[in-house]
Amino acid sequence: MKKQGNIYLIGFMGVGKTTVSKYLRELTGWEEVDTDKVIVRKKNMGIPEIFEKYGENYFRNLESHILEDYAKKGQRIVSCGGGIILRENNRKLMKKSGTVILLSATPQTIYEDGKDRPLLNGNMNPDYIGKMMQERQPYYEKAKDIEIVTDEKAPKDVAFEIIERLQIPMAGKEEEA
Ligand code: S3P
Repeated sequence: MKKQGNIYLIGFMGVGKTTVSKYLRELTGWEEVDTDKVIVRKKNMGIPEIFEKYGENYFRNLESHILEDYAKKGQRIVSCGGGIILRENNRKLMKKSGTVILLSATPQTIYEDGKDRPLLNGNMNPDYIGKMMQERQPYYEKAKDIEIVTDEKAPKDVAFEIIERLQIPMAGKEEEA
């Protein structure tokens, strides 16, 4: 059977990409990759440490290389770092090699996520998050094929919605997910 294109999950930090991605893996049986996790594994360093030591551009180059690798493989769920959409090449590559799902949420929902993220260091408040989201919005718009608002939705339901909209066959394990 022909391999399908990747499912790319994009969206601002904390919208729930990681959790939705996990459910998508369980429901489809596809392999799942998280670009941040691949970077951490390859460099054996945490993301904040990489930013601090080598800077954002270095991190973005790693991110683009990983995207290139997985774009070639296909039939994977790729959970992307929130800033992957900043580079035009990344946006083009995702569109060409799969379907790009934008998950979106309000600044308040993101604020409540609370994970350690270098770009929000010292600015972890809904106002700052809102401003940064607005700056990035045009890139998310350009990158997306489909948008799903995740506020007040269970991540598992978001995963079901994606599967339904893309008409991807389920692996038959939905009751365990
Ligand atoms: C970033 C988002 C993070 C991580 C890095 C930069 C961004 O990923 O890649 O801290 O620029 O939005 P998550 O979206 O998974 O938090």
